[in-house]
Amino acid sequence: MLRNSRVLMPYLLVIAALVGGFLWYQSEQVPRMGRVVSTGSIDVGGAFKLTDHLGQPRSDADFRGRYMLIYFGFTFCPDICPTTLAVVAEALDKLGPDAKKIVPVLITIDPERDTPAVLADYVKAFGPTFVGLTGTTEQIKDVEKKFRVYAVKRPTGESGGKDGTYGVDHSNVLYLVGPDGKMIHFYTETLSPDDLAKDLRTKV
Ligand code: NI
Repeated sequence: MLRNSRVLMPYLLVIAALVGGFLWYQSEQVPRMGRVVSTGSIDVGGAFKLTDHLGQPRSDADFRGRYMLIYFGFTFCPDICPTTLAVVAEALDKLGPDAKKIVPVLITIDPERDTPAVLADYVKAFGPTFVGLTGTTEQIKDVEKKFRVYAVKRPTGESGGKDGTYGVDHSNVLYLVGPDGKMIHFYTETLSPDDLAKDLRTKV
């Protein structure tokens, strides 16, 4: 057993390096925004016209006066979306009264399945202040482009997608938009609730 693992170790290291390299390469395809100092008038974000989880039309202008903490994801996401939204929920809890200044927003990248009703069911699990936004495919494409979101549909399931099941590969970025509608910060990695709360406290 020990001998085997010694023999295998160099191969495992090579495989690990390859996988790591591939993941790094993939992550490089996704937004590079984390490396940008993101204060001032950086060209990410912008106006949108969407529909919220209650079926009401919502535009970016409706959120002026409050911060938006925006995440692009989808309700069928098995892991990263619920994890990130749970972190946001917990961080806002930790913020206390300051949390009132922030509206947590999930913009779906899967408008086909994420109808207002589906979003309503989903966002309420994270807290009463969460807003889910969906729209037509064109509206969603437009907002994805403005926020430089990476989102690609991929067949999934045992049938390899023949039954129509799919996931969406997507970038994992939290955007903090200011009360004036300007982008303040991108979080390009999932922080702990404590770290996110601590950072938000310095910004809102
Ligand atoms: Ni996801």
